[in-house]
Amino acid sequence: MAERILITGGAGFIGSNFIRKFIGRPDIEIVNIDALTYAGNLGNLSDIEHQTNYHFVKGSIGDEALVRKTIGDYEINGIINFAAESHVDRSILNSKPFIDTNVAGTLTLLDAAREFNINRFLQVSTDEVYGSLGADGLFTEETPVSPNSPYSASKASADHLVQAYHETYGLPTVITRCSNNYGPFQFPEKLIPLMILNALEDKDLPVYGDGLNVRDWIHVEDHCEAIYLIFAQGRDGDVYNIGGNAERTNIEIVKLLLSILGKPESLIKFVKDRPGHDRRYAIDSAKIETTLRWNRRIAFEEGIRQTVDWYLASPQWCDSVRSGGYMDYYTLQYGASE
Ligand code: NAD
Ligand code: TYD
Repeated sequence: MAERILITGGAGFIGSNFIRKFIGRPDIEIVNIDALTYAGNLGNLSDIEHQTNYHFVKGSIGDEALVRKTIGDYEINGIINFAAESHVDRSILNSKPFIDTNVAGTLTLLDAAREFNINRFLQVSTDEVYGSLGADGLFTEETPVSPNSPYSASKASADHLVQAYHETYGLPTVITRCSNNYGPFQFPEKLIPLMILNALEDKDLPVYGDGLNVRDWIHVEDHCEAIYLIFAQGRDGDVYNIGGNAERTNIEIVKLLLSILGKPESLIKFVKDRPGHDRRYAIDSAKIETTLRWNRRIAFEEGIRQTVDWYLASPQWCDSVRSGGYMDYYTLQYGASE
């Protein structure tokens, strides 16, 4: 029987990479519901949108009637919830949309999943719910949730709701907590694409604080493979950490990008630190590696070079994102009726 999966937020960075990776499989039908916020770009999917096993619905995961209609009409049997407000700095400026989408939107999906007896509900969460590490140690699935930013607090709240729906109603849920992703189609508000695009235009590269905060970087394709594996084989009610095994300080990343691009380090500009800036994230991925035999395929240095090459080879995508022109795509493609 074909798997009919509702992907939420599929026009964003990770969701679009996930759809591209799995839409080629004839046993999978994908319905992508996306509100097309500033982070949603249908141009990310222009190469696969004609496929007969792909369908797009424009709307919010918080729209109860639309969510129920979509699940019913397409006879959805699994949900993967990527949709979110995802940028920490934006959550510091205004946290309300993070609560609306990440918390209330997830709750709407959970209620619909219950009503329609969905076989599997996968919540795409983040390692940021664990808070910040000191110089030593790794986040395991047992690490207490202790978020520090409005973004991570909203993701942690959603995780608690997902867990509660499993415990209370027996909903077959799984939660994934992944480290920082990089790769093609990432919106240039996040560290790596922002630095690439700024360097290409010889603009300053703003590094927060002392540049020594550490993130664990994973290629988006490795994350997507892990998500599908957990969706298909994860144990109901469980949490799975996913890491890249590639801890780097921010300044190391910025210098590496400059050297790949052949640009001078004089472009680096240390700026005021992010308030509440988590010092270090690092993931213990032993559970998914041993129980589901997942392994990352893309080594960091190779992945980062491929990513730079992708941005260099995609000037149209970069221009439309810079100019905001990508937001016209929906009207061009689907007409002005919505
Ligand atoms: P993104 O910001 O690139 O994309 C988010 C997508 O969700 C966009 O297409 C946007 O239009 C859509 N969206 C926003 N609000 C919506 C709503 N109310 N209804 C429907 N769609 C809505 O984010 P991303 O980087 O692709 O992250 C995807 C998921 O992965 C998020 O849940 C995020 O918390 C999680 N995550 C991200 C990272 C990372 O490094 N980017 C790491 C771990 C986990
Ligand atoms: P980001 O890509 O926003 O991911 P997150 O905050 O979710 O980890 O930032 C990654 C790291 O890079 C984080 O420590 C903040 C830092 N950073 C900068 O130094 N300058 C920037 O302009 C941005 C966007 C991030």
